[in-house]
Amino acid sequence: MKPFAESSEQNKEPILSILMTELAHCARVLEVGSGTGQHAVFFAEKMPHLRWICSDLSENHAGIQMWLDEANRQNIEGPLLLDAREEWPALQVDAVYSANAIHIMSWEAVQRLIENVGRTLGSGGKLCLYGPFMYDGQHTAESNARFDAWLKERDPVSGVRDVMQLTELLSLQEMELINDYEMPVNNRILIWQKV
Ligand SMILES: C[S@@+](CC[C@H](N)C(=O)[O-])C[C@H]1O[C@@H](n2cnc3c(N)ncnc32)[C@H](O)[C@@H]1O
Repeated sequence: MKPFAESSEQNKEPILSILMTELAHCARVLEVGSGTGQHAVFFAEKMPHLRWICSDLSENHAGIQMWLDEANRQNIEGPLLLDAREEWPALQVDAVYSANAIHIMSWEAVQRLIENVGRTLGSGGKLCLYGPFMYDGQHTAESNARFDAWLKERDPVSGVRDVMQLTELLSLQEMELINDYEMPVNNRILIWQKV
C-alpha cells in the first residue's frame, strides 16, 4: 500500500501558494527528503512548468515510486538517492526544496546539506525550506518548543533549527535570506537566494 502522511496532505495547499510565486521562473527543482512522495506528485501537477526531481534515503524509495507510478507524470524525476551527509553528484537545478527534514537530521548533516546546496545552485538559485524554526534561540510558539523536546527525546542530535544559524551558514555559500513566510500551525517557509 502507498505510504500516506496526513501532514503532507494538510500543508500542501498553503506551501503551493508560496511556491507558485517563488518557483515561477524556475525550470528544475530538487526536493530533498521527499518522504512519501505526496508533495512531489502534487507540486508537479500544479506547477507543470517545473521538472520536479525527488530524492530521499533508500528506505523511502519504494513508497515514493508507488506515488510516482500512480501519478504517471512526465515532469517528475527520481527518486534519486541523495543523503544530505554525503557529497551530491553534479545536478542542474534552479532551486532546492525541503519540507520538515532538517529538524530530523543532525546539525552536522544540516551543515553538509548546506554545502551541497551551495555547490549545486548557480547564481539566482533558491533554497526553500518549510517547517518550524527558531529565531535567536527562541521558539515562535509553545507547540514548537514541545515538538523540539519530543524530537530531542527521540534523537538527541535532531531538533528545530535556528534561522540565524542557518542564514550564517548559507552566507558562506553566498546565499542570502530573501523571504520569510508565516505558515499555518506555526511553520514557516524560508527562501535563500544565491547572489
Ligand atoms: C519528516 S520527513 C518529511 C518528509 C516530506 N518532506 C514531508 O514534508 O512530508 C523527513 C524526511 O527527511 C529524510 N531524511 C532524513 N535524514 C536525511 C538525510 N541525511 N538525507 C536526506 N534525507 C533525509 C527522511 O528520510 C524523511 O523522508
